[in-house]
Amino acid sequence: MATPNKEIVLSGIRATGNLHLGNYFGALRKFVAVQDDYDCNFFIADLHALTTNPDPNQLHANVKSILAEYLAAGLDPEKSTIFVQSDVPEISEMYLLLNMHVGIGELMRTASFKDKARKALGIGTPADDSDEAFEKEIIGASTNKRVNAGLLTYPTLMAVDILIQKANKVPVGKDQLQHLELTRRFARRFNSFYGVDLFPEPTDFDFGGAPVKVPGLDGSGKMGKSEGNCIYLIDDPKVLRKKVMRAMTDEGPKEPNSPMTEPIANLFTLLELTSTPEIVTSFREAYADCSIRYGDLKKQLAEDILNITTPIRERVNDILADDAYLSQVVKRGAEKARERASQTLAEMRQIMGIRKF
Ligand code: TRP
Repeated sequence: MATPNKEIVLSGIRATGNLHLGNYFGALRKFVAVQDDYDCNFFIADLHALTTNPDPNQLHANVKSILAEYLAAGLDPEKSTIFVQSDVPEISEMYLLLNMHVGIGELMRTASFKDKARKALGIGTPADDSDEAFEKEIIGASTNKRVNAGLLTYPTLMAVDILIQKANKVPVGKDQLQHLELTRRFARRFNSFYGVDLFPEPTDFDFGGAPVKVPGLDGSGKMGKSEGNCIYLIDDPKVLRKKVMRAMTDEGPKEPNSPMTEPIANLFTLLELTSTPEIVTSFREAYADCSIRYGDLKKQLAEDILNITTPIRERVNDILADDAYLSQVVKRGAEKARERASQTLAEMRQIMGIRKF
């Protein structure tokens, strides 16, 4: 709700696929917890998803399913502003305006751009990763394997999402910190260029407490959509159990109190997130005295994960079947988001000299 004295929290998620346990423990669960304490704004970044030219029907289906998953996991449209990015046309206009103060050099040096541009061109990271070499790769690219300009200006659009709501706190993952830093720079630059105090500088919002790293099931690294190692909130029990039972393990501890290999440590991390302390302790003891059977550990883990995901999955299915409810939620969210967005845009236009006759 637009409560003037609460700090403004804003976060978005790109509309590319379903939410997984990493999204849930890393972000969603925390969003749910702070809804009463902040002026919360959560949105689905469908315009950002366009940078990879998704199939149009797929894009819409993704927006709808992520919205349903947000709601099913406990984001409450009575408390938070929940909206779809493209429902706020002010964002697109401000994106044009802000781009006039953004350098192509600073955009090209962004780590995520280098990464995605190389993916679009179908090349890996070359031995020479200098800015000069990268520039040549981009400029030399043929027109059928192009790096679209939307990909380059992705950070501008993200900055606009944040600045148009004058957000103070932005919860983002590590991979987005550079974008947040650019947002802060763009805000300072705009304020100082025009001698105004329009944009507050947003900071990373870590919710306090230790960051949660949710590992994948493939032995190393974190759970991620692009890693193919995910447990999705809407996985049905059969699929979910199968995924867990297939998770990578090792040959088992040979001596008492052996150190854990990464795949096993990861299973314990997941168990700690989902199970009771007693169960975790009993498996730790079994590991320490070499009596552990990984099959039992995985069976337990699958059931504990299902305890969390089953109510969410059931609500997702109910919500997806209720188009009237979904459209009511996004309509109301867009109205609320547009209130502040249109205000900010009007101020910005005025400041930049786009004035009415
Ligand atoms: N770029 C973010 C991601 O890929 C999604 C995003 C878009 C976002 N706009 C934002 C996150 C504004 C926080 C604030 O995850």
